[in-house]
Amino acid sequence: MRNTADSITNKMMLEFDRMLKVVHHQTQHDANMPGQNLEPPALNTKQTQHTAGLMRINHTGEVCAQALYNAQAMMARDEATKAHLLHAAQEEHDHLNWCQSRLDELGAEVSKTNAFWYLHSFAVGSLAAVFGDKISYGFVIETERQVESHLQEHIDDIGSQDAKSLAILKQMQADEIRHGQDAKDAGGVELPEPVKWVMTGMSKIMKMVSYRI
Ligand SMILES: [Fe+2]
Ligand SMILES: [Fe+2]
Repeated sequence: MRNTADSITNKMMLEFDRMLKVVHHQTQHDANMPGQNLEPPALNTKQTQHTAGLMRINHTGEVCAQALYNAQAMMARDEATKAHLLHAAQEEHDHLNWCQSRLDELGAEVSKTNAFWYLHSFAVGSLAAVFGDKISYGFVIETERQVESHLQEHIDDIGSQDAKSLAILKQMQADEIRHGQDAKDAGGVELPEPVKWVMTGMSKIMKMVSYRI
């Protein structure tokens, strides 16, 4: 009994530590960051603020991805699923760092609401995983599909105006498509339509808030 309580406490402390590391992430140099050798674009104040708003949304999206993947890995039924999810989380962590680097370059800050979105996503990821690994993978498929589609909106919005942000978004989009396909190959099932609607609604709220604060 004591061992079980200790193990739960250890898990909770590990997850809390993971959350702090994501929410208070310090930007790290990454030699493989897309677009880092490109010339900085000449953006006016309005364009800079708009691009920063979009990159802040994407950064918060990656905070959510960390929470979802960490929660789903923690609750995964088998070790292969857990390893799969943690591997994808590592790539999402690169995305988080790239978005944060670009925000630094634009002189902008990450969203002040990131801790809330981490906790929200962690709860949602845990709930998805309760229904088993196939549903959990299904949740990854739908999440990645929605992220891929909103990245396309941002890619179209930025256009040729900012090649540096564009290079990051395009690489992220390619990775998200692969994450979705990997989850499908691992046996993920299609989620019911109402669940997809709720996910779309929550992501709209996240985007609206993170663009501003
Ligand atoms: Fe990502
Ligand atoms: Fe992804």
